[in-house]
Amino acid sequence: MEQVKKAFIEALAAALPGQEIILERPRSGEMGDLAYPCFKAAKALGKNPAQLAKDLAAELRLEGAGILAAGPYLNLRLEPATRARILLEALLGTRPYGSGDPNGEVVIVEYSSPNIAKLFTIGHLRSTMIGHAQAQVNRYLGCEVVRINHLGDWGTQFGTLLAAYKHWAEAENPALELDFPWADEIPEKLRSPLYRLFQLYVRFHGAEEEDPALREEARDWFRRLEEGDPEARRLWSWFREISLRTFNRIYQRLGVAFDHLEMGEAFYQDQLVPAMRRLEEAGLLVEGQNGARIVDLEDVGIATPCLVQKADGASIYATRDLAAAMYRKETFHFDRCIYVVGADQILHFQQIFAVMTKLDPWFQGRMVHTPFGMINLPEGKMSTRKGNVIFLEDVLDEAVARVTAIIDEKNPDLPAKAEVAEMLGLGAVVFFNALNDRVKSITFTWDRVIALDGDTGPYVQYAHARICSVLRKAGGDWADLARPVQAPTPDSAVVAYGAAPLPADLAGLADAPAQALLFELAGLPDALRTMARENMATALARQLLSVAKAFSGFYTNCPILWAENTAEVRDARLALCVATARALRQGLFLMGIQAPEEM
Ligand code: ARG
Repeated sequence: MEQVKKAFIEALAAALPGQEIILERPRSGEMGDLAYPCFKAAKALGKNPAQLAKDLAAELRLEGAGILAAGPYLNLRLEPATRARILLEALLGTRPYGSGDPNGEVVIVEYSSPNIAKLFTIGHLRSTMIGHAQAQVNRYLGCEVVRINHLGDWGTQFGTLLAAYKHWAEAENPALELDFPWADEIPEKLRSPLYRLFQLYVRFHGAEEEDPALREEARDWFRRLEEGDPEARRLWSWFREISLRTFNRIYQRLGVAFDHLEMGEAFYQDQLVPAMRRLEEAGLLVEGQNGARIVDLEDVGIATPCLVQKADGASIYATRDLAAAMYRKETFHFDRCIYVVGADQILHFQQIFAVMTKLDPWFQGRMVHTPFGMINLPEGKMSTRKGNVIFLEDVLDEAVARVTAIIDEKNPDLPAKAEVAEMLGLGAVVFFNALNDRVKSITFTWDRVIALDGDTGPYVQYAHARICSVLRKAGGDWADLARPVQAPTPDSAVVAYGAAPLPADLAGLADAPAQALLFELAGLPDALRTMARENMATALARQLLSVAKAFSGFYTNCPILWAENTAEVRDARLALCVATARALRQGLFLMGIQAPEEM
């Protein structure tokens, strides 16, 4: 398709010298494969756009394609056999469809970044899966991606945790055992040391309201931690370990991986003083109120200064982000650093980016915050402290349970039932997150987040499974052609397929439903680029739904294994099935969703 595009652009450029040629995709394949909107050029030439389209249609010729005026648009429409050949060639080869060559661009994607001693809520799904998809698509398009988890493993909240542990747990339950006195009140799967830690944290916040002296204790413990006090360090690393064990279990379940899980906030502890010194030497660090040290940002239009150091000398969250930015420049020389963090931190990142740009213009435009909306409950904001939260694992388990119930009813003999239910349940939740515009907040209801009908992950997964079933029935090696040469892992963005033969005769794909499916498949490369540009998977999720729907139209209207088909028709249609299965599995995989072959 790239070649067709190039030829069309060249023809247009020759006919319209001096005009920038930007192509769009028509709404349907019946209208064409590529559209050139004539508005701008018409204006420049003092013509009516529809007239210009007509003139161009009369003038331009391209082999294998018709060039037609449709109102103010000039459309290029491939002949059915040409469209089929171009797409099948691209989809049945070994080069991943729509992928880019290595382009030397280094992209850091920082995502997930939970705070230690807190449990994963449904809210964490957003950063984790949006970030994962961004890392995957950027790799797919040829960037060198560095995946960082900026774990919240340092800061005053550790003071809180240490103080709480010393205050209550050390005497009551020093090993954070599971059989603590009120364990019965806690659901089985939460009876973990992490939950115990989390409870300490909640208890502390309740108690400090009554007893402000506790706050002092917490501050003191963080100071001891920063100064390297051995007891504080020992407890800290134990708490971190406890948390990571749970986090890793969840990452594994979601199929998410990082290149640097060690680069959390604590990683920068030795770099904080040098970072502050650099700011000071640049003349940026000034005395704020009550002895705190700040960077003033009023001159760059940000009214709130960036607080860098507290009056007691303690570092804060922002200090660690500044040190991290400096470190990342030195270490990775990145072209872009994408921070996948909630919309509640927009100001924080504006401040960080502004401070870094003041310090070193190199940072200008390289750092991007991709905020996302919160997941709220119908009754309001979730708050871990107040205990009104929905835990991510509960949502995933519930999704899997609902899928299992449906399979038990409709297809009780399905092989590998548990695995398939896991793929579909997670597919529903993860696809829901991807389909929704990242910037909008979501009100959580179980039926919404775990919907299994309509525009959902399982709908796309179902299209894939149905294709696999047709291919199995076709016999020969058809089913193998839709199977990756090795199971994909999160350490690659690519689902690798071997080359599949291209049928010589593609007349079996001339019918409108087959052409419509080819047209939707042709939309995938653009969707991937949009996904990378918008830093969200919405465009890809939508395009996969369009492909799945178009497949359904093809399947219903163009018999594939019908006895009266000629072998040529059958093979052409089967080849389109293989191509579609590959595209669907690859697309889902980029979002972090598995595609079962049977369901
Ligand atoms: N740990 C933080 C939180 O849970 C998110 C960290 C975001 N990344 C960053 N570089 N500040 O709110």
